[in-house]
Amino acid sequence: MANLALLQSPSQNSNRSFKKINAQPKPKRGGKGKMSYHLRIVLYRPQAPENVGLILRTAKSLGAKEVIAFVNPEWLRNPKIHKRIKQVSTGVGNDLLTLRPQEEFEKFLETHKDHLIAIEKTEGIESLPITDIHHHLTHLSEINLLFGNEGRGIPKKYLKDLKVFHIPYDYPNSLNLSHSVAITLWELYRSNLP
Ligand SMILES: C[S@@+](CC[C@H](N)C(=O)[O-])C[C@H]1O[C@@H](n2cnc3c(N)ncnc32)[C@H](O)[C@@H]1O
Repeated sequence: MANLALLQSPSQNSNRSFKKINAQPKPKRGGKGKMSYHLRIVLYRPQAPENVGLILRTAKSLGAKEVIAFVNPEWLRNPKIHKRIKQVSTGVGNDLLTLRPQEEFEKFLETHKDHLIAIEKTEGIESLPITDIHHHLTHLSEINLLFGNEGRGIPKKYLKDLKVFHIPYDYPNSLNLSHSVAITLWELYRSNLP
């Protein structure tokens, strides 16, 4: 497991842009102005470090506590990839991010499947529109949102056992991974979960 926060200098941990966003009034959450559940973004084999960097920025601003990426082992040892993620996550840094080898994904799935929700649009798999997602989350104290890889999405063998939500989208291709995360987090944020 590689926690990229360890690769940062103290000055890079300042999160200045996050504090600026937090200065704005936010919807009331959990009676204390904060999300009362643990929200985690789970990325299945992302291919583009740029997408992971962009996801970190959105995740930090919209209340996610953690981003776990199950990656090709090359990602764990390649400093160029770590550097690129950090460049793109400017201001926010990489402190939310944990990289894990892709071989560990199935074990994670097994232990978290009751709290794991897939965000995907694919033929042959039943899914609900993302605007319905808050109805399914109100009883959960932990939420894991699973997103797929840029090339192939989430494998169908995993989707079969999960609750799936899609973002309605007319264009024949799918949305960019980081855009999908942003839309989903915004949907949760604005729905003002307890
Ligand atoms: C670029 S897409 C994967 C595309 C892949 N070629 C496919 O057709 O399945 C990467 C990820 O973004 C998310 N995504 C993209 N478009 C989506 C949509 N309309 N609804 C829900 N999730 C979406 C999914 O998690 C998907 O696995």
